[in-house]
Formats: sequence, structure tokens, C-alpha cells
Amino acid sequence: MIRKKIEKIRDKFQGEIQKVKDRSSLEEIKIKYLGRKGKINSLLKELINIPTDKKRVLGQELNALKEEINQTIKDFQEKILTREIQEKENQKINLTLPGKKVRVGCLHPITRLHSQIENIFRSMGFLILDGPEIESDYYNFTALNIPEWHPAREMHDTFYLENYQDKKRSYQLLLRTHTSSMQIRAMKKYGVPLAVLVPGRVFRYEATDARHENTFYQIEGFLIDRGITIANLIGILKTALSQIFNQQVKIRLRPGYFPFTEPSFEVDMFCYLCQGKGCSVCENKGWLEILGCGMIHPNVLKNGGIDAKEYTGFAFGLGSSRLAQLKYGINDARLILGGDLRFLRQEIL
Ligand code: DAH
Repeated sequence: MIRKKIEKIRDKFQGEIQKVKDRSSLEEIKIKYLGRKGKINSLLKELINIPTDKKRVLGQELNALKEEINQTIKDFQEKILTREIQEKENQKINLTLPGKKVRVGCLHPITRLHSQIENIFRSMGFLILDGPEIESDYYNFTALNIPEWHPAREMHDTFYLENYQDKKRSYQLLLRTHTSSMQIRAMKKYGVPLAVLVPGRVFRYEATDARHENTFYQIEGFLIDRGITIANLIGILKTALSQIFNQQVKIRLRPGYFPFTEPSFEVDMFCYLCQGKGCSVCENKGWLEILGCGMIHPNVLKNGGIDAKEYTGFAFGLGSSRLAQLKYGINDARLILGGDLRFLRQEIL
């Protein structure tokens, strides 16, 4: 009985070991035959119940099988190891393997759009300025003709920080709600004549969805000199927008309201996607709302230390996050700052 079993185990093992291809299947076989609960051990247990003289002979045979299995496994182990080393060696010198792909980074859509727009305005003599994202409520609101009681502050609800105290007074600090906050700083620093473009990040207390973000980008532009009129404003805007969209654009001005400009306008651009027929991007209006603008309010010029009787100027504010969405077909505002690598690699644009 036991002898038969010994032969059976030997045959089975020899059959199975031939199929072994790698370390893990070898390990499985080792456990199956030589493990604590393996086939050899369980047969050893069966020996307990048979007469002593037979036990000795069978015990020796069983031990011989154990030794044989052990040796075969070791031989196979060696073979696998040698093969692995060989494979590694081959890899090292295999010059025909394809190279590893190197990922080349690309500019963020906002960076791309901002640098294009900066170049356009730089070529028209504008100064490109940066400004603080943490701003005082004076530059963000008060100096722009938006006193504390003004209802416009409500639409620009933002994140307020602790007061900042210097030797003279205390400032309410906040995250700037628009890049218009740079108007007064630039007027005071550079005087007139002045032509400035301020691209930058702005913040609003806003619930986020596909159309809104609490952090987004704007570009403020303004120009002040003697004799500046709305005609100059329209001329500059048309030139810039035509270059941004690579085609002659048609724009229209509607009356608007901003506390820091008088008169104020909303500017629409003829929808270049549907040619005015109406589409999902322009919400079937045939026109795209592009920016707000106007002639700088005399109070604002005065706050910037400029003689409002002698000088006039225009200003405009353009939502560049929205413009990037339009230009590059980004259908969700949250993608812009979401950090999704597929978006950043521009695989899902
Ligand atoms: N600052 C405005 C906003 O964030 C945009 C704007 C409108 C800027 C009209 C201007 C302007 O300079 O003249 O809503």
C-alpha cells in the first residue's frame, strides 16, 4: 500500500516539476511535497501504524524519495536562476529595444493665453504689471469708487484676512476680487501718460460648478493720456481681440455699470463659432459676452493722483479663465485649476 503510494508520489512529482516555469510555481510544488503538511510528511504519519520491520524499509524508501525531490527542486531552482541572469544580461545589451518615452511638458492653457495677450499689448506699448493677490480693501474697493456701503461690494464677496497695522493706520486685508486693484497702485507709481496690462489671479466667495470657480484669472488693462476717448477703447479692443482669435472680430457695446468707470459698457463679440446663428457656446445669442470696460471715473483718476480735468483714460477687465474656455473649448471651469494630469497634458482638451 505505502510502497504504491510512494511510487505514485514520485510519478506525479516528476510530471509536475517538468511544467515549472518560474520561481513561484516551483515554490508551490516545494510546499505541496516537502511542506509541513505536504505529501511526504502525511505519508510519514501513515508509517506509524505499520509493523516495525516493514516500517524501517519503507521509511528508508520514503526518505530516499524526499531526498530525490529535494535535489530535483534545487536543480530546478538553479536552472531558473541561471535563466533569469541570462535574461537580464541579454536585456543589458539589447540595443534593438525601443527607447523609453520621455514626457515633454507643455504650457498651461492660461499661461499660453496670457503670454499671447501680453505680447499683443506689449507691441502696442503697454507695460505688463503684476500685483499682490493679498490686497487691502482700499485698493480693491475704496479707491475704485466702491466705498464700504456700496452694493457692488456684495457681488465681490471674498475671503477676508486679519487686519494689518502699520505705524499710521490699520488695513483690512482680503484676497483681491479683481485685477482692477492695480489701477491706483500703477497710477501712483508711474504717473501719466500710462498704458498698463495686469494679468493675474483673483478670488471670489463663490460656490463652484462647471461655470464658476472661487479662484480664476483676469486681465485688467487701462490707458490714460490727454484726449483719450471711447474711440481709442474700441480700436484697441478690436485689434487685440482680432489677434487673440486670429480673425477680424465684430464687437458691440451695451451700456453697463461699474463704479470705477463712467460711462461703462459690456462688450460682446460676434460668435465666431456659429457666425451669429446661435450655438451652445453663445447660448443661442449669436454674441459672446467678453469683457467689461468704460472711461475711468474722475474720482478714480483723482485717487491715483492724476488731474482728471486734463487727462482721461479707459479701462477694461477681461475674464481670461472664461476666454481660455472659449478659445480652447474647455467645458468645465474647474478643470483649469483642478490639477488633473490628463488636462495638464492636454489629452482631454
Ligand atoms: N473689475 C471688473 C470685474 O471684475 C471688470 C472690469 C469692468 C474692469 C470694467 C474694468 C472695467 O476695468 O472698466 O467684474
